[in-house]
Amino acid sequence: MDGNGRWAEARQIRREEGHEAGAKTVSEVVTRARQCGVEVLTLYAFSTENWSRPLSEVTRLMELLVRFLKTERKTLIDNGIALRVLGHPGRLPRAAQRALDAVCGVTEAGREMTLNLALNYGSKAELLQAMQTVVDRAEPFTEATIDAALFTADQPPVDLLIRTGGDQRLSNFLLWQAAYAELVFVDTLWPDFGAQALDECLAEFAQRERRFGRTGAQLRGENTQ
Ligand code: IPE
Ligand code: MG
Repeated sequence: MDGNGRWAEARQIRREEGHEAGAKTVSEVVTRARQCGVEVLTLYAFSTENWSRPLSEVTRLMELLVRFLKTERKTLIDNGIALRVLGHPGRLPRAAQRALDAVCGVTEAGREMTLNLALNYGSKAELLQAMQTVVDRAEPFTEATIDAALFTADQPPVDLLIRTGGDQRLSNFLLWQAAYAELVFVDTLWPDFGAQALDECLAEFAQRERRFGRTGAQLRGENTQ
């Protein structure tokens, strides 16, 4: 979810208003993803690096999170969507932690889709913590033991990673889980993204040939000897 600030600046309004508009996009995209049968949707809402933003913007983002959780709670429950946090919510304001705990708890049984909110999340820190967990559990280092020690334990790997806002980088996001993800970069700023834009990204994904190291001929089942 990138581009809220630039969207606001282009309209000569406050960045916070860009985040407000971005929150509306979140509702629309969550609904559309669920309709499309997406199993897990992860939204990069706040990175470990985002703490370096002006305090006023951080505060407004946290207030927006609490408001979002209150307004979306019923929709999540009604649509069988389980909310989960990737990251360490312990550094978030108390009100945000409480709201997250409440909505994660009350939606836990949702089986239609999982909505991961990456909050105070950084992939390198997650990986270091996972490695420490594997050591503490006295397990051998395997892909499975690391998978199981990540915030995304029990979830499938990332198939499609969409970055809005025109930048073409991963910004410390799900580096392990997205090892074989199809990457789609769109110039659209997050508040302008929506159901149709998601459909377009899914169509782009459907056209990609996912070879996982094999040849195209092998995938097509041709006899290549
Ligand atoms: C939203 O977009 C991402 C958040 C951290 C909430 P930005 O706030 O990064 O918007 P730009 O990149 O400044 O346009
Ligand atoms: Mg940005």
